[in-house]
Amino acid sequence: MMNTKLVTSQLKEQNKEIDRGADAAKIFNNRSLAVDYKTLIPILKPGMRVLDIGCGTGAISKGIADLVGPEGKVIAIDNTLDTVEAGKVLFAGVENLELQHCDMFDFETQEQFDLVISARTVQWLSVPLEAILKMKSLLKPGGTLSVLDYNHEKISWQPKPPKSMQTFYQQFLKWRADAGMDNQIADHLKGLMEQAGLKSIQEIDASETYTKDRSDFTSKVGIWSKVADNPQMKKDKYLSQEQSELIVKTYDAWVENEAVSMTMYLKEVRGVV
Ligand SMILES: C[S@@+](CC[C@H](N)C(=O)[O-])C[C@H]1O[C@@H](n2cnc3c(N)ncnc32)[C@H](O)[C@@H]1O
Repeated sequence: MMNTKLVTSQLKEQNKEIDRGADAAKIFNNRSLAVDYKTLIPILKPGMRVLDIGCGTGAISKGIADLVGPEGKVIAIDNTLDTVEAGKVLFAGVENLELQHCDMFDFETQEQFDLVISARTVQWLSVPLEAILKMKSLLKPGGTLSVLDYNHEKISWQPKPPKSMQTFYQQFLKWRADAGMDNQIADHLKGLMEQAGLKSIQEIDASETYTKDRSDFTSKVGIWSKVADNPQMKKDKYLSQEQSELIVKTYDAWVENEAVSMTMYLKEVRGVV
C-alpha cells in the first residue's frame, strides 16, 4: 500500500524546487482569469464563495474575486510559501480575496463553498482521486467543482522544436511519470470525478494556442526553457547542467527565430455535488 502522505510530501518538496527554478511567481503573475481560465467566467456570479486550490500568487483568484464582487469571497490556498507571500503583497488591496499558505490535504474549514476550483495543480499530485475527494468535501450541496489541467502528451509545436528540446520533453514526461504524476491528467479527470460521485460532469476544451501575433508569445512558448532549467530534475539525475544549458540556449533561439505556434492541450472538467 502506497504511503500517500509521504509521496505527497515528497512531491510537495519537488514542486517547491520546480517552482523556484521556474521563477514561479513571475510565471503565475503572467496568468489571468481572462486568458488562462476563461471557460470559468460564465459560471461566476456575484456573491459566490469560491475556494481556489493551488492558486500560485493568486493572479487568477484575483480575477475571480472581481467577478464575485464585494458580496462574494475567494479563499485561495497554495503550499508554496514564496508564491503565497508574493501574492499577499500584490493583492493586498483586494478585500474579498484571502490567500493562505496551506497544503490542500491539510486544509480545514467550517465553511462550505459554492465553487471549488483548481487550475494546473492536480497534474503535480500522485494521488489525484484523493485530491478530487478532498475538493468535493469542501463544497456545499449543489456546489460545483471545476478542475483545469493538461494532457502533457498532447502538446504540439509548429514547426518542431530543436532535437534537444524534443529529447528533454520526453525525459520530462518520464521524470513526472516515475514520480507518480499523471501526464494525461486532463483526460482522466472525468473518470476521477465519476469515481468521486460527482454529477452532471462536463468536459470543456480549454486548449491554449499561442501564435506569433500575441504579445505574450515569447513568455508563453518560452515556458519550456524555464522547465529545462529544473533543479529537481537535475537533482534526480534526469538532466545534467550541461544538457540544461544547451537546451535552454537552443530553445530560446528557436522561439526567437523559428517558432510559429504552440498548442497546450487543456480541459476544464466540472461536476456538481
Ligand atoms: C502550476 S501552479 C498553478 C498556479 C495557478 N493555479 C495557475 O493556474 O496559474 C501549481 C500550484 O499548485 C501548488 N500545489 C501543488 N501541490 C499542492 C498541494 N498539495 N496543496 C496546495 N497547493 C499545491 C504549487 O505550489 C503551485 O503553486
